[in-house]
Amino acid sequence: MAELLKKLWKDEEGQGMAKYIVIVIVLFIAIAGIIVVSGCGDDGDDAIDCTCSTLAEVAGQTGFWVGAAIADSEGDLEQKTIGVHFNSVTAENAMKWGSLAPSVGQYDFQKADALVAFAAKRGVRVRGHVLIWRDQQPADLEAEVLGADDPEARLRALLTEHIETVAGHYRGQVDAWDVVNEPMDRYGAQIDNNLFYQYLGEEYLDESFRRARAADPQARLFLNEYFYVHTPTDERVVAFRALVKRLLERGVPIDAVGIQGHFWGVGELPTRAAFEEMLSSFTELGLEVEITEMDVSRNYFPHAEDPFAEQAQVYADVFAACRTVPGCIGVTTWGMSDISTWLDRNEPFSNYAPHHPLLLDTNLQPKPAYYAACEVLLGCR
Ligand code: G3I
Repeated sequence: MAELLKKLWKDEEGQGMAKYIVIVIVLFIAIAGIIVVSGCGDDGDDAIDCTCSTLAEVAGQTGFWVGAAIADSEGDLEQKTIGVHFNSVTAENAMKWGSLAPSVGQYDFQKADALVAFAAKRGVRVRGHVLIWRDQQPADLEAEVLGADDPEARLRALLTEHIETVAGHYRGQVDAWDVVNEPMDRYGAQIDNNLFYQYLGEEYLDESFRRARAADPQARLFLNEYFYVHTPTDERVVAFRALVKRLLERGVPIDAVGIQGHFWGVGELPTRAAFEEMLSSFTELGLEVEITEMDVSRNYFPHAEDPFAEQAQVYADVFAACRTVPGCIGVTTWGMSDISTWLDRNEPFSNYAPHHPLLLDTNLQPKPAYYAACEVLLGCR
């Protein structure tokens, strides 16, 4: 081609033809360059970068919360690890009524304040857990109520004072509050007959949400619950949804539903489709939804060649279900790493330890489940 161009260039008549050929070649090279740079022309197989930098970074880019609960005892290394891998944190115990006030009215915010401070330093969102719950209350709460001349009035006053004190203390610092945790009976499909329900009836929920809204108007207010079967038609799910509907009909300021997501080694594992439908059945009520306490025991897969690959698939299914449902805003795991999980500490689950149920292993390294969750967020799985 070069020889031909030279020859034509020498020949006066051929010069026009040579210029024409040069222009065509230059244009061809330019267009080919544009195609390569823009990535067009590769049969629509647009290359998505499936490299997971960190879950926190990927989640942040897609406007999603990926959180972990952190125990009171965890130190600098664990706090740093949270900052690297997660963009949301929940106090596993430190913000519960009985942790803040072992005795009625005697508040000590030290541990919880430390957690909120480290989260702020690292730019991590805080989920507040929990204002009102049947468990982990001040040791003398029940005696205080039962011993009062008017137990109902005393309980109402204590509930109000507690919510105002705690939600007020963290006003503007806590993005979301589990206002009431586990309003359902432990096993069945009824409302739990706890101290609050016994004296105030279902209205204890209304009161709790109204007080929380007044104490911290910016915080998202959650009703948090666990289920044994994660389908929209499960009896317990149906009863819980009916409760949520009643609250909404009464104008109670509830913003979101928390689905805990404990998979402790027995019972049904979720399917992606059913989980998605269950989440949608709450967002259809106009609420947001979040998976707030997820863990998946490796005991589900005793005979699997690679139990952690199986575990990863469960995490992938739940993350994918949540990503698919508009209004599902995040997933929090109940613990940060397999070093420390309530399943290994609390009976009867501790009898089947170690559960290895979380996203980081005992060396704080990402597990297959971590990468699976990340790949879902990247759109690669
Ligand atoms: O702080 C005391 C300590 O002083 C004492 O020496 C020790 C002796 O047992 O107990 C310590 O308290 C324990 C506390 O965790 C802090 O570690 C309690 O016994 C123990 O019962 C408590 O367990 C917590 C459990 O809630 C209480 O029901 C778990 O750590 C915590 O992970 C778990 O979290 C709950 C969520 O809040 C709600 N959803 C279910 C989830 C799992 O049960």
